[in-house]
Amino acid sequence: MAEKGREPEDGLSIAERTTLTRGADFWSTEAVGGVPSLVLTDGPHGVRKQTGASDHLGLADSEPATCFPPAVGLAQSWDRDLVERVGVALGREARALGVDVLLGPGINIKRDPRGGRSFEYYSEDPLLSGVLGAAWVTGVQSVGVGTSLKHFALNNAETDRMRSSSDVDARPMREIYLRAFDHVVRVARPWTVMCSYNRINGVHAAENRWLLTELLRDEWGFDGLVVSDWGAVRDRVAAVRAGLDLTMPGDGGTGDAAVIAALESGVLDESSLDRAASAMATLADRTRAGHDEAITVDHDTHHRLAREVAGRCVVLLKNDRHVDEKPLLPLTPGTRIAVIGEFAQAPRYQGGGSSHVNATRVDIPIDEIRAFAGDGIVTSARGFTTDGSDDAAALRATAVAAAADADVAVLFLGLGERQESEGFDRTDIELPADQLELAAAVVDAQPRTVVVLSHGGVVRLAPIVDAVPAIVDGGLLGQAGGGALADVLFGVVNPSGRLAETVPVRLADCPSFLDFPGEHSHVRYGEGIFVGYRGFDARGLPVTFPFGHGLSYTDFAYSDLSVDVDDGGLRVAVTVTNTGAVTGREVVQVYTARTGSAVVRPPRELAAFAVTDDLVPDATQRVSVTVPRSQLAHWDVRIDAWVVEGGPRDVEVGASSRDIRLEASVEIAGDEVDLPLTWQSTLAEAIADPAVAEALASSMPEGAGDMAGSDLLTLVGSMPLDRLRNFGLASPALVDLLGDPDDV
Ligand code: BGC
Repeated sequence: MAEKGREPEDGLSIAERTTLTRGADFWSTEAVGGVPSLVLTDGPHGVRKQTGASDHLGLADSEPATCFPPAVGLAQSWDRDLVERVGVALGREARALGVDVLLGPGINIKRDPRGGRSFEYYSEDPLLSGVLGAAWVTGVQSVGVGTSLKHFALNNAETDRMRSSSDVDARPMREIYLRAFDHVVRVARPWTVMCSYNRINGVHAAENRWLLTELLRDEWGFDGLVVSDWGAVRDRVAAVRAGLDLTMPGDGGTGDAAVIAALESGVLDESSLDRAASAMATLADRTRAGHDEAITVDHDTHHRLAREVAGRCVVLLKNDRHVDEKPLLPLTPGTRIAVIGEFAQAPRYQGGGSSHVNATRVDIPIDEIRAFAGDGIVTSARGFTTDGSDDAAALRATAVAAAADADVAVLFLGLGERQESEGFDRTDIELPADQLELAAAVVDAQPRTVVVLSHGGVVRLAPIVDAVPAIVDGGLLGQAGGGALADVLFGVVNPSGRLAETVPVRLADCPSFLDFPGEHSHVRYGEGIFVGYRGFDARGLPVTFPFGHGLSYTDFAYSDLSVDVDDGGLRVAVTVTNTGAVTGREVVQVYTARTGSAVVRPPRELAAFAVTDDLVPDATQRVSVTVPRSQLAHWDVRIDAWVVEGGPRDVEVGASSRDIRLEASVEIAGDEVDLPLTWQSTLAEAIADPAVAEALASSMPEGAGDMAGSDLLTLVGSMPLDRLRNFGLASPALVDLLGDPDDV
């Protein structure tokens, strides 16, 4: 019997049910009985519907589709409503192209800035990743297109990704790496989950019964279909047994015989096959429900949406005054601008690999800047090449001359397509050396220089941050990024993006530095829960720009923090006032901390966030967020369960993880943790139980009986009870309570 979902059509033979559980070809499944063939395709920031040759590397052509900001950019909006709107637009494009499941979102944690797929993931923080991932799923599925939450799980590096084992302890696994998946599965109910290529503590994700069945289905209540990453399955029988429903891409049926033989020999239980076939039937029902109405897409409208979204993803990292002037940005029309850098003419707007979209059109930054600045006053220089094809010194000299001749230089720097992609990790996080040299020379010639950054993974900014007065970080912004950057540069859009990951001073400061990308097919997650800002903060390390950082052309004041505690968690409210001269929106970040905890913890963890409305100058908004009680829990390895630790909880509200504006402390009621006392319990643990304390007192020599709170307990409190026997101190009263120590 199938475990969940609907049964496949009555009367399907074993061979037919087996066929249902594998692809027909690269992107579609087999039509069997009443279950139609479905099309699954990438994802996540645009639809990659291939028409000719098929590949999962983004090589062959695909239908034109809107390229929205990839996750690296989108996450910088910190805006769940915006992400949901993108999801709806993506779903509509998928429907129009006949796609049933869009393969996204990718919500793996950005454990290390060298990770090759950083551009495809949201954040170093699980809450931000989970909330935005859930919004994406909700948006796409609202138009009847399925999603595939990926890559489940612990796929945090590209190096050796099909063999490597992510070796991780239970707390980081639960608190950091699985938490976003848990959130999306419960809140947004994705119709499919994609298992990853890698192994987890030695077991391949596709063959991991604990992951795909016990955790995903039994604990989290997932009721959809588990699909493999493309080519992740080594052993289809083991995979179906573990909980995999659909093997992609299709092998033309060559693997079916092994599945059927395993069923006949009893190695594979028929209920597993039924579960998988039933999941396919349920997915078909879900995706085809209400698909009678045809959908057409207006690509101009979607391009405008892509520009609006991209504008909200831009992070203003720095905006200093030059001597006595106003801050350098925004620029005013009529300013003579030298636009420098290859990315101003050939923008870098998406990442390489399976998510590579054939954009319907692409905004060219220099054209967009010209449109704002006015005719005849924008000059340009290439400045550098990403492939080293031209003389760097000559390119630099021309750029410096252009910069010196203008009122302002706008210098586009970043990483080229060859410097980062799916499929490999970076070995450093440096901007290319010729770009750093160019930046130094341009700022020397033109102190009023704005740097605009394009990159999928974090780049180290310490070499330029002090010299350059203004830095605008686009990450990757999709096809309308050029227009969005011009909107921000000229103040048509007031930037409200915030960093979704830390910009470190040095790569060596990153918590994962020594354990990335691992060796001999093993990656030890040695930093534990101290990922990203959690690790930088715990060690008090300086950073170039902290998690959550981002400036605005206006200022915001925070006041009147209130925190109410109830059984559901915390209700946090704060008043935000626009104290500057222009309209803008603020991202309010709520962090919690538990000092004096019984377990190691970072100094603060993101617990909630919200984006204000557009606030005109002097306008005020009361922003309220809920921190669910579950968000306050840690994974207790003694009982393998989430536990909320009682006691004081600090609530910090601010504009970044290192710009805390208001603080409060509240008292939280803890969960009861019932740990049975055994002979392995310590004296200190035993004394906390009155009955055992009394039995112990009768074991002790005269005068040592009342240990609670005494100096003696400090000395011997860590001694396990069974060792008392070595000193002849295990009294009959203790044996009565705990049983015979030799029976344990
Ligand atoms: C990637 C997936 C992608 C799939 C299909 C794989 O290589 O890891 O993210 O969805 O290919 O293109």
